Amino acid sequence: MNTRSPVALVTAAFLIACSVAAPEPEIGQTEQGAVLLAPFKANLKDKLVTSMQSGVDEAIAVCNTAAPAIAESLSVDGVVMGRSSHKLRSPVNAAPDWVEPAIEGYLAGKSEPVAVELDDGRRGYVEPIMMQPLCLTCHGQELQPDVAQKLAELYPEDQATGFADGEFRGVFWVEY
Ligand code: HEC
Repeated sequence: MNTRSPVALVTAAFLIACSVAAPEPEIGQTEQGAVLLAPFKANLKDKLVTSMQSGVDEAIAVCNTAAPAIAESLSVDGVVMGRSSHKLRSPVNAAPDWVEPAIEGYLAGKSEPVAVELDDGRRGYVEPIMMQPLCLTCHGQELQPDVAQKLAELYPEDQATGFADGEFRGVFWVEY
């Protein structure tokens, strides 16, 4: 008998369809954290790239207000997220305590995401942020005088300059 009969094909198609429709296994903690952070990362990058086209002044103003606003708008239903660093520009971005060990790890050369169980039974997830050429304008070693001045006005305690391309800059974190 021909094993590639229409019946066998239909059966195979049915089995494939069924396996696709079957309930998905529960997403792992790392993946869930990454999924929660994805729109934050995409939104920020989008805002940064668009605003840079209108000049650095405009981009700094956007970073100043848009970054905290985006983080806040995505922090709903017990989910809280943000960015932080060992060298902060904005004191508002100070890390929650549980994020500190992850930052230490990245400073020591680690590069993997970190997933932790928090004291209250919720979960935490951290990803490193590395410097890219685009970031040098506002976080690099040689800032244009007008950029340096604008940053000094807005962030008198700014520590987030002097970075090189590829260097560890900070983290994205999320609690859920
Ligand atoms: C136009 C200037 C500008 C550019 C370009 C820029 N940033 Fe920033 N960055 C800021 C400002 C202003 C803040 C503080 C406001 C905020 O976003 O919370 C900031 C804050 C941050 C923070 C939060 C921690 C902290 O220090 O307060 C991280 C992390 C960060 N930037 C990483 C980057 C990376 C990575 C890039 C490149 C992809 C980049 N930035 C590009 C201006 C800039």
